[in-house]
Amino acid sequence: MSLTTFRTTPAGVAGESGARVGRDAGASLSSTTTSASSSSSSLPKVTVPSLLEKKLARRPVVAVTAYDYASARLVDEAGLDVILVGDSLAMVMQGYENTLAVTMDEMLMYTRGVRRAVRRALMVADMPFGSYQTKEEDGVANAVRFVKEAGAEAVKIEGGRERAALVRRIVGAEIPVMGHVGLTPQSVHRMGGYKVQGKSMEAMEELRTDALTLEEAGCFAIVLEGVPRELARVVTEELRIPTIGIGAGPDCDGQILVLHDMMSMTFSEPAKFVRRYADVAGVMRVALGEYKRDVEARTFPGDEESYHLTRDTRAQLEVVGRVAG
Ligand code: KIV
Repeated sequence: MSLTTFRTTPAGVAGESGARVGRDAGASLSSTTTSASSSSSSLPKVTVPSLLEKKLARRPVVAVTAYDYASARLVDEAGLDVILVGDSLAMVMQGYENTLAVTMDEMLMYTRGVRRAVRRALMVADMPFGSYQTKEEDGVANAVRFVKEAGAEAVKIEGGRERAALVRRIVGAEIPVMGHVGLTPQSVHRMGGYKVQGKSMEAMEELRTDALTLEEAGCFAIVLEGVPRELARVVTEELRIPTIGIGAGPDCDGQILVLHDMMSMTFSEPAKFVRRYADVAGVMRVALGEYKRDVEARTFPGDEESYHLTRDTRAQLEVVGRVAG
């Protein structure tokens, strides 16, 4: 990607230039049966209105992407507000160079896994490239699929004024819409790469108008990606709905990061705006190396990791063995 370029992942970084006990009901022998701690279980469900209240109360909205059951469950239990099943999964889960290839059916499949994990956070599904750029009817129909077939509570679409009519139609179908302006990865070819947007006076004014138009069209929040901090502050102050920044500085109403970027689960230098909170790839590398060593040395599994017959059956087996022998 070169989202990679911009956020992280496969390629390089361009920077500015460029308590739910019982939920694992099915598992019986594996460690997945252990109930997870659920620090968020006492917190109220996050909803579209509660995000608007957060803006009014000047409390930051905390958002992150997740694409699968396990990580979404960890995010939800950590008490974050919003989980976005982002089309960035094309890069971090599927290994594509950019976000353009992921299909509606694939997005639905990932969204369903996340749905099974999430209890409290607001779950937003990202509409993939091609699912809404064709006809408004396609956009509405695909937004409905996310809610009906995968349990999403809202959808996100990229673009400014040109999406206002579509936003009205989707909101009119009772589906909350999150906007996304600035660096919009689905426009990578038009932008000529993953570059910071809104740097000239004219571009700033356009982005401001885009955000105001999307608010007026009915968006409940807007992602501001890859824009100068000063512009993000002005837009945040002007909008009644929350802005959620990624590479847009600290003055937005909330922040979002790609989970794999913040956990160091990518294979390139992170973009300037990414803070790495853990080295999950490092932990996995060490663990996999140790597992390989143990299997090769026949020290795994040990007797304590093996199942045993009862004493009676073992005795019977010995008798049978003696008879057979
Ligand atoms: O696809 C994605 O992950 C996103 C966010 C990071 C805003 O669009």
